[in-house]
Amino acid sequence: MRNDVIFHESKKYMPGGVNSPVRSYKNTGMTPPIIKSGKGAIIIDEEGKEYIDFVLAWGPMILGHSDRDVVKAIKEVSESAIAFGAPTELELAMAKFLCKNSENVEMIRMVNSGTEATMSAIKLARGYTKKNKIIKFAGCYHGHFDGFLVEAGSGVLTNGIPGSLGVPEDSIKNTLIAVYNDKDSVKSLFDKYGNDIAGVIIEPVAGNMGVIKAEEDFMNLLREECDKYGALLIFDEVMSGFRVSYEGAQKLFTAKPDLVTYAKIIGGGLPCGVYGGKKEIMECLSPVGEVYQAGTMSGNPIVMAAGLATLNKLRNNKEEYYEKIDSLGKLLEDGLLDIAKEKSIPLTINRYGGMLTIFFTTLKEVRNYEDVKTCDAEIFKKYFKHMIENGINIPPSQYEALFLSVAHTEDHINKFLEVFRNFNI
Ligand SMILES: Cc1ncc(COP(=O)(O)O)c(C=O)c1O
Repeated sequence: MRNDVIFHESKKYMPGGVNSPVRSYKNTGMTPPIIKSGKGAIIIDEEGKEYIDFVLAWGPMILGHSDRDVVKAIKEVSESAIAFGAPTELELAMAKFLCKNSENVEMIRMVNSGTEATMSAIKLARGYTKKNKIIKFAGCYHGHFDGFLVEAGSGVLTNGIPGSLGVPEDSIKNTLIAVYNDKDSVKSLFDKYGNDIAGVIIEPVAGNMGVIKAEEDFMNLLREECDKYGALLIFDEVMSGFRVSYEGAQKLFTAKPDLVTYAKIIGGGLPCGVYGGKKEIMECLSPVGEVYQAGTMSGNPIVMAAGLATLNKLRNNKEEYYEKIDSLGKLLEDGLLDIAKEKSIPLTINRYGGMLTIFFTTLKEVRNYEDVKTCDAEIFKKYFKHMIENGINIPPSQYEALFLSVAHTEDHINKFLEVFRNFNI
């Protein structure tokens, strides 16, 4: 069936035809391709058209689609273990892996999505500190939990929604908004509310207002203020974990987190999330402590198997994979900058490893959400249409990152550049 026919039919049964808003291509003037299959860096739609995929399921598919070892692990485990709702050794293997690979994580709790991970981390921070308020940054996205839907990034930004209906005032009265990379904005919130701040949550390398890395002295300030007032510093590494480096964003900063959240890559493409931190904090969780959080599907054997297959492969090929992804990223970034200069296209690129955003702005530096808002939406819309029509799958929003995998090659990057060269603003 044709893509648009399936999409039209889907709209009768699912709001906007989708199960997650950004997939609808709203505001792009297009309907989305309906994806049938994927292998490596290529995905194919229902009409048989191929795309080089730079979305990668919004990050998780760092090994490329249907990686041989991940598929094998899923097949093998599902022969004898689909779900028990009981402890399994696979969960222990995952817990050990994550604790061993993150110097700031001594214990973990598995959940089923990034949203669940961040909202549970906040609840734990509140339970541990016995305080209520949290600081988040404008343009950062931490999932669809009520308390985070204030000045959020990602699809909330893409669809131009200031927040969300259905969120009671009471749910956001404890959410304080600060400006990314702006120390004064954080300081003044601590000065005013310090004794009631349970935690600060941040994407240390943001991806949900486009890629923006936090600055070192800004991160140090967060650590200092949290220490001064007894608040917890939470790194949301749902996107950056095992992505910006094998050790995630934690490796990039002197300041270290009290709690960390992961999802995406650690599930190998299956629904997954996790939060972790120091034993003393994590043991506030039930059944040891009194912060209640639970999940029927948490730590599901098939998810653990897919995640471990991915993580083990990344660990065993660490140098080669991350170097490859970074050098492909550099090839793409340099090529795009050259073409933009030749063709006088106003843009700035932020990239960290295999995470990259082209900001169509005349600003030389994009450091926060205010800067992102200077981007030209009309140029993005034209660029997006041009890329998709020519077989390059990129996120349908200025406020997202595009991703690279180990399955991408120089040929794929050159194809991207060739298509971009033919783009006229
Ligand atoms: C940094 C960050 N945190 C949390 C989330 C929410 O994760 P999920 O969509 O798995 O609920 C996302 C999703 O993109 C994210 O990028």
